Amino acid sequence: MQITKVNKSRISEVDFDNLSFGANFTDHMFVADYKDGQWKDARIVPYEPLVISPGAKVFHYGQTVFEGMKAYKDEKDLVWLFRPDENQKRLNISAERLDMQAVPAEIFNEGLHKLLEIDSEWVPKGNGRSLYIRPFIFASEETIVASTSSEYKFMILLSPVGVYFSNDVKLKIADKFSRAANGGVGFAKAGGNYAGSFYPARLAKEEGFDQVIWTDDATHSFVEEAGVMNLMFRIGDKIVTAPTSERILDGITRKSIIEIAKDSGIEVEVRPITVKELIEASAKGELKEAFGCGTAAIISPIYAIGYKDQLMEMRQKGNRYSELLKAKMVEIQTKAGEDKFGWTKQVTFA
Ligand SMILES: Cc1ncc(COP(=O)(O)O)c(C=O)c1O
Repeated sequence: MQITKVNKSRISEVDFDNLSFGANFTDHMFVADYKDGQWKDARIVPYEPLVISPGAKVFHYGQTVFEGMKAYKDEKDLVWLFRPDENQKRLNISAERLDMQAVPAEIFNEGLHKLLEIDSEWVPKGNGRSLYIRPFIFASEETIVASTSSEYKFMILLSPVGVYFSNDVKLKIADKFSRAANGGVGFAKAGGNYAGSFYPARLAKEEGFDQVIWTDDATHSFVEEAGVMNLMFRIGDKIVTAPTSERILDGITRKSIIEIAKDSGIEVEVRPITVKELIEASAKGELKEAFGCGTAAIISPIYAIGYKDQLMEMRQKGNRYSELLKAKMVEIQTKAGEDKFGWTKQVTFA
């Protein structure tokens, strides 16, 4: 792999105590090109603007997929990834649905580990901080004919981050807009899924909500997931979460939290959840907690959920599952506790 390093690091310009999510990038980035039927020219270069034709297909047809994962630094300054193979596989699941070239696991892993080695100083430690990792593939062929691209770029960017939402959030259940439909690309981390969600999210923000809870497109009666998070509800003392489907992203945090919860003796039910059921549970005082799960926030507690003109408020103040599960997850991710599931992978430096 060809490596070109910066002459001078920008690290001293970054305020690690006030990191806004995704706004700072490390000194280097990984790039590989798919051309003439193969991935080639894997390289690490200084983080800098790209030169891309305005005729590249990504700008016109949105043929792009991405991943989101994190690296953590432990007490001994060792760097750890959390279930990285899951992200590597999911990137290719997304790529297949968008008819893009898969990235071989060796290119993904070698690129990621080498990049993390070179920019390891940038992995922040403690206080909920971590290094967010953004692998992505986009269609770079220069032609605006509406068909699949024959050329791609695979890149990895690194961004030191702090806590995502520092406060509990208030979400609005979608009763008109949809994020995904059966047969569509909802299960993929396709750029367009997010582009299509910004407008409904903005309208929800104007009404005082932080994000939208997406419902099924056909009936808007089943709750599915939130902006960049899967959802869990504590009804009575059970956790209830929707099954993944072709409309919902198979979140790595979601499946990890399900396992941690079960291991902690909490009953978890994976089944479709209706809006009606949440309203009824709330009226009976049984909807005790709701929280989102995703790489960015890990667990983001929800204090209220709006549906049309109703507002459901979560009543559990102490002994919250969200806090217990987040603490257990963070302990595993940062190596502060035992990783009995074998989810963490050390980044080894050559
Ligand atoms: C739409 C959507 N749902 C759920 C998630 C959570 O997935 P994960 O836990 O793998 O980050 C994300 C974020 O990655 C997302 O974008």
